[in-house]
Amino acid sequence: MKNDKPSFQTTTLWDFPKQSYGKTPKGNWRFRGVTPAGVIWNLLQRYTKPGDLVVDPMCGSGTTIDVAKEEGRRIISYDIAPCRDDIIQNDARSIPLQENSVDFVFIDSPYSDNIKYSDHSACIGKISCEKEEFFDEIEKVTQEIHRILKPGKVMAWLIGNHWRKKSGFIPVGIKLYQRLLKYFEPIDLICIARRHQTSNTPQWHERARKFNFYLRGFKYLFIMRKTEKQR
Ligand SMILES: C[S@@+](CC[C@H](N)C(=O)[O-])C[C@H]1O[C@@H](n2cnc3c(N)ncnc32)[C@H](O)[C@@H]1O
Repeated sequence: MKNDKPSFQTTTLWDFPKQSYGKTPKGNWRFRGVTPAGVIWNLLQRYTKPGDLVVDPMCGSGTTIDVAKEEGRRIISYDIAPCRDDIIQNDARSIPLQENSVDFVFIDSPYSDNIKYSDHSACIGKISCEKEEFFDEIEKVTQEIHRILKPGKVMAWLIGNHWRKKSGFIPVGIKLYQRLLKYFEPIDLICIARRHQTSNTPQWHERARKFNFYLRGFKYLFIMRKTEKQR
């Protein structure tokens, strides 16, 4: 870390030992499913410039807001269950912005029903990734992101895979990627090391050995571009 900023990542494996950086907190590290702030900082360095409009349709504890503001970007953020005054209550399947109006979108979505984010019935985190319905709802969010982005601009989507005792491995990231390819062209695929997992305990490591499964060690970060030519 230099000058209180995260390190600029030059490979496709990103690892941030701490959730936040700098003198002020970025999001809330206690929020379950919080994004490592270094992920958003790196994306903003590469795909935006000061003054650009950044949107996060599922903003959670507001990490994108705090990073974007400090970097001099304009930010509009939504969540179905806002936990801060600067987050607008909205369902990501219908974003109240004009088409072709946004410079960059970051989203870190639920990837199953493993975390309870809120009691709101429209929370996508209430749908299990074992059901195709999960991907159908996520595709509606994809369509909205595609609609609001300016042609040629970039979006990044952070998502994990899942393992369930009953159904085994569910390649959530790959299934989302198949949907994203219907709308966007790929720029790159980054692996984000997962730290501070609730499953990072001796008991869970013992279970992984005993029942012969793997604990999740990374998430996917899909970086995609809306092509210049309209779909
Ligand atoms: C992984 S968390 C986001 C974490 C956030 N990036 C942060 O750093 O705190 C996913 C968020 O998606 C929100 N969410 C779930 N369904 C939604 C929907 N239909 N529309 C908008 N937000 C939704 C949840 O309320 C939750 O806050």
